[in-house]
Parts: sequence; structure tokens; C-alpha cells
Amino acid sequence: MKLTERSWLGTWISDADYRFESPNSPVPMAFRRLFEVKKAAAAIHIFATAMGIFDLYMDGKRISEEYFNPGFTDYSAHLQYVEYELKDIAAGIHELTAIVAGGWAVGRTTHVDDTTRSKSKMSAERQALLCDLVLDYTDGSHETIGSDDAYEVCEDSPWRFGDFYDGETYDARIELSKAVWKPAMIEKLRVQPKICARYGLPVTAHEHFPPVSWFQAASGEWIADFGQNMAGIVRFTVNGHEGQEIVIRHAEALENGELYIQNLRSARQTVKYICREGKQTWSPRFTYMGFRYTGISGVSPEEIEISALAVYSDFRTIGSFRCSNEDLDQLQSNLTWSGKSNFVDIPTDCPQRDERQGWTGDIALFSPTACFNFGMKEFLRKWLLDLKTEQTALGSIPFVIPARKGITPTLTTSCWGDSCILVPWTLYMSEGDEEILRIMYPTMKKYMADVKRWAALSLPIYGSPHILKLPFQFGDWCAPVGNIKDWLGHGPWVGTAYYAHSCELMARIASILGKKGDAERFTALHEKVKNAFRKVFTDGHGRVKDEFQSAYVLALAFGLENEENRSAMAGHLWNLIRDNGLHLATGFPATPHLLFALSDNGYAKEAYQLLLQDSDPSWLYQIRHGATTMWEGWSSVQEDGSIRESSLNHYAYGSVGAFFYRRICGLEATEPGYRRFRIRPIPGGGLTWAECTHESPYGKITVHWEQGGDHFRLHAEVPEGTDCDVILPDGQSTSIGGGIHEFKCVL
Ligand code: BGC
Repeated sequence: MKLTERSWLGTWISDADYRFESPNSPVPMAFRRLFEVKKAAAAIHIFATAMGIFDLYMDGKRISEEYFNPGFTDYSAHLQYVEYELKDIAAGIHELTAIVAGGWAVGRTTHVDDTTRSKSKMSAERQALLCDLVLDYTDGSHETIGSDDAYEVCEDSPWRFGDFYDGETYDARIELSKAVWKPAMIEKLRVQPKICARYGLPVTAHEHFPPVSWFQAASGEWIADFGQNMAGIVRFTVNGHEGQEIVIRHAEALENGELYIQNLRSARQTVKYICREGKQTWSPRFTYMGFRYTGISGVSPEEIEISALAVYSDFRTIGSFRCSNEDLDQLQSNLTWSGKSNFVDIPTDCPQRDERQGWTGDIALFSPTACFNFGMKEFLRKWLLDLKTEQTALGSIPFVIPARKGITPTLTTSCWGDSCILVPWTLYMSEGDEEILRIMYPTMKKYMADVKRWAALSLPIYGSPHILKLPFQFGDWCAPVGNIKDWLGHGPWVGTAYYAHSCELMARIASILGKKGDAERFTALHEKVKNAFRKVFTDGHGRVKDEFQSAYVLALAFGLENEENRSAMAGHLWNLIRDNGLHLATGFPATPHLLFALSDNGYAKEAYQLLLQDSDPSWLYQIRHGATTMWEGWSSVQEDGSIRESSLNHYAYGSVGAFFYRRICGLEATEPGYRRFRIRPIPGGGLTWAECTHESPYGKITVHWEQGGDHFRLHAEVPEGTDCDVILPDGQSTSIGGGIHEFKCVL
């Protein structure tokens, strides 16, 4: 990936006298620079970055509506800068202003279970700004004004507070022009990153939601329901009185008629606005919240016009899925909303509580679904670059990327660590992005060497050096059975299954990249790990000795069992599901593969049965209980409406979305970037029709099928330049090229 650097005239500046204590977040810092445009100027180019997150203003007018620049990267390695162009600048005196809040580098953005140990100042002692203003005069001459001590600084702007977890405070009575400014000071940063032109996507506001209902809670607070859980902020207009204080708290759910805030842990998610006199419109700039509801005090619903804005990275929606079952349509909506809510510059686990970290396992599991629905190339590449940078010398990958050193561990652990292989592989297959495989290959190989070393330590325990138990496994994380000890206890099964799967992918990746020797070594290792799984964990005839659903799911989905035992194994899996009252019992790592394990091994009808189950635990249980995003736990909201302390916006279980495209509609890339793909729909579940669209690099693919009586009709739109293999439910198959095609068969 080509990163562009530039040489800066400016230096880092700050207010060196400004101090605050961790774990607090700092008061936003304001900078200004008066400068003269000496003659007619065609344009001003502004190059800027910060420690913290910033907004720029020219002559009091905000330059861009983007949020949270320069974005979240491993600031010790990479820092993005942004470039803006302003046209037709009149000669005379102008004023550039920057507001820099704490953001990820300086603000409180680290999670620990014990919040008293949470931390700010992860990358810098205080905010700092780096900026070059390049004036392009119409006569062809240029002038650059770099940030230096000719800038002025203060902490007296209307932004009194700004923090991702806690919210924002704005005092509209304050006029920045009347603040007491002092000369900015040259700042020596703790980190020395490469400063590169933005290579990720900007974060912007997308959908707007007006309230769908209002009511007054017993506490007196006015509760507005925006009808959709999301990551975002509010925007409102009021006719205010000087000094009137409006406080808005944000939450994902209600409990007993009040905002439910327990799952936010220590995150306050509160904005406070102090009015000036008259009509005014405001929206926070340096925070975002995970919410569907707001609790408002200091103003009544008649006096405020408010809406919620969804804020996330500016990727395109490139896929859609719809069918005749409204619950499944709602599930598709929920999982795409959990995607949007957790793609705020980096892929996060959740957007609401005091966490919001780049958990590797979550995106490893959700990326196949994300890539059907959204154009993820720039977004995921940016994150992968940090993953590559933050891998340790021995090969392990931090649990969260960008890493929170000293807070969240770095340990080789399956599925989470396998993200270094799974995410690039997904991008390669969906976007045809071979370069990402090349970039990430050394990282993948080093990680696999570390996995191999840890597995070898299992020899005395299992009599095999290919079982991955050590050093630590999340195992069947968040399974709806047992407790955390049980989930972790299933580590060796999950770990070894993912180890085998990654060996298989590595053999394929090595051969794509022309590394024949590596391909052979990974193929051989794959055989050994598969054999070890069978020998240690199964009876050799398709039964797992210590039976649990995830063990079967992963063995089937990753092809660990011999061909002749596969259908017996699928039968054992189905028996477990049936004995569990037709309920799944899988945690994060196995859930994406559950329906595939069934449908690809003779249990398609049963896969639909499980998908359409709506009692706890199941996907549709969440729909029955009014979910508009995916929950972290299968039953985060319980039958009686009470809420278990967990996130209501976690996309891991939304990984079922890939099944909608790949099996219900049957759309699957068989060559990278859909150069060749397959359409093999699996009708069932009482669906009378289903449809998906996906904008591949070659153009838009549409699959639409209908079923009535025993008649099945398929409509396929295939982009030029691709080949498509169609397999109808009656087994007929044919190959087609670009164009619109119709097929019929009898079921
Ligand atoms: C996160 C998860 C993550 C997990 C791993 C949680 O706190 O929210 O989604 O993968 O920790 O332990």
C-alpha cells in the first residue's frame, strides 16, 4: 500500500502549560493564526493533523463536516493528515482556527473491567497541532505558513469538554474571539509516527432519524425514541434563553420507563449545551454515542427540534438482501446497522460502553458479511496496516488493534489472532485484492510460526504437538451455555480447528503468491493438524468425545473430518441441537459457520429451522424482542424484558448475514473479486422469494428467486467480463456469461 508523506514547514505546537490528570479527558484546545493573503489567491491548501481530534475553521466557518480527523491509528507508527482546498480567497487578513479535543490519542479511550484503572494520554501528554497553509496565488507564486509560535492557543473555547465515552459540553455564550489567547509553544511529541496522507476513509454523518415517539419519564426527563439503535449524535434547534442548560443522555434501551445505562459501564454518553439568547442549532463534534433513546432535560419536546444522526466511516453500501420473511429482513437490517455502528474509523466491538476497541476476533468473524454489504477495502486495509505494525517480534497479535499497550494483552489466541489471515483473505475473495495478501503475508507467516510453537507445547498434555491450547484461548466465547470458564475450557477444540483452517488458507495464499515451498509446508501441516484434531477429539467415526455444538460446527465447516464420516458428524450435531429444544448453543467463533455446517452436509431444511427459531437463544428471538441491532449475548434482553449487562450493538452474531447471500441466494465468489462466481440457491424455510444484489469489482450482480408450488424460477444478472456457474435446486447446472438470464425448474 502506497503511503504518501510530505515535508512540513510547520512544527508541532501546543499549550505546554496545560495539564490534566489521567484518566480524565482534556478540555478542547483552541488554536488560531491570523495571516495575510497579500494578493489575489486562487486557492489555499490546508494540510493538518493533530494529537487528538480536530476541526478547522476559516474566518469562523467550519471547513469540513468530517468527524474525528486524523482518525485512529497506531500513533507511534502512523498518523494520517488531511488536506483541504479552499477556493477564491480574497486578498486581506484571514483567520484559521482549530479546535483539538482529546480523541483517541489524549482522551480517555481505554477499557479495563475495573474502570478506576482506565487511562487517558495513551499517545500524548496533551493535544498538539501540525498545520501547513499553502497559499497559491493567481500569478503562479506560492507561500507556505507553517504552524509555529506565531499561532495562539487557549482552552477557553465554547467546547468545555469532549470525550468519546462521556460526551460533550458546549457553552454557546462563550465567544472565542473574546478569549484570552497566548502564543502557542513548540511541542515535542512522545511518539514519532510517519505522517501520511489519509489512506483510510473519513467519518461522516449519514442517516437522520427524527424521534418516533416522546414520553416523560417518572424522573422528569423527556425520553425521545429514534426508532433505530446506532452510533451517532443528536442535532437540535431551540429557541433558547441565555444560560438555559439542556442535558441529553443517550442509551440503547429503556428499563422500567427510564433510560437503561448499566451496560454503558463508566461511559456517561451525555451532552450538555448552555444556550445563548435566541434561535440556535447545535450538534456535538468530538464524541459519539451508542443509542436509540435520549433522555432530555432543560427543555420540553415542543421547544426543541431534534434528530439523531448516524455517524460512521464513509464506505459505500454495495449489497442488499431481501426475502418474503419480514423477520429475516429485519435481521438483515439489524446486522447491517451493527456494521455501520461499529465501523467508526476502526472496526470496534461496540459503540456504547467504555470499550469501543478494535477487537480482532469480532471483525475476523464479521468481515465476510461486511464485505457482501459494504465496500470495505480502504477501511479494512487501514486497520490491517496497524495490525501488521503491532505484531510482536515472535508473531503474536494484540487482542485489540490499534493496541492499547499496558491495558489489553497481546497473546497468540485463535480466531482473534487468525484475523491477520481471515480478514485479508476475505478482502482478496470479495475485492480481488491480491496486494493485501502480499502486504500481509509476512505477518500471517510469523503468526502461524508462533501458533506452531505454542501448539508444540501441548505434546505432554495430548501426545500431539498440533493441538492449540496454549497460551490462552477465548474458546467458545459468549456461548449461551455454561459460564466464561466453560467457554475458555473449550479453547483446545476451537483453537485447533482454527489452526487447521488457517493452515489451509495459508497453503492457498502461498501458492497464489508463488511461494511453492511454503504452500507445500502449509499443506503438510494442515494434514497433521486435521489428523490431530480427529485423533485427540473424536472417536474416529465422526463423534466428538466431549460433545458440544461448536466442536462439530468447526470440524464440519473447516473440513476436519474424513469424507466418509461427515454425514454422521452432521447427524450428531443435529442431535445436539434437537436435544437442546431446536436451539443453537454456539459462541462467537462457531456461529458464523453453524448454518453452513448443517446445510452443506445434508441438513439444509434443519438449517432453515434453526434460522427461523425465535425462542431463546436464536437470531429471531432478538427480533421478537424489538432489537434493531445485533446483541452481544443471544439473550441480552430477557423474556421478561429485563436487560443483562451487555452491549446491544455487537456484530459477531450478525455474521449469519453471509449465509443469506451464500446459501439462501447461493451467491459465492469462486475466483477472487467475482471474476468467476456461482449461483446455487437453496430454497426452503417457507420462503416464497429471496433476492440479493452485490456490486462486485466487475459490476452489479443480482440474484432473485421465486418459488410457488413445485415451481422454482431464478433471475440472474451477471456483469460483463465474468463467468457464472448456475446450479438449480433440481441439480441442473450451466455456465453463463454477462447479461440477464432466467431459469426454471421443478422442485
Ligand atoms: C468484547 C468482545 C471481544 C471480547 C474478547 C469483549 O469485551 O466486547 O467483543 O471479542 O471482549 O474477550
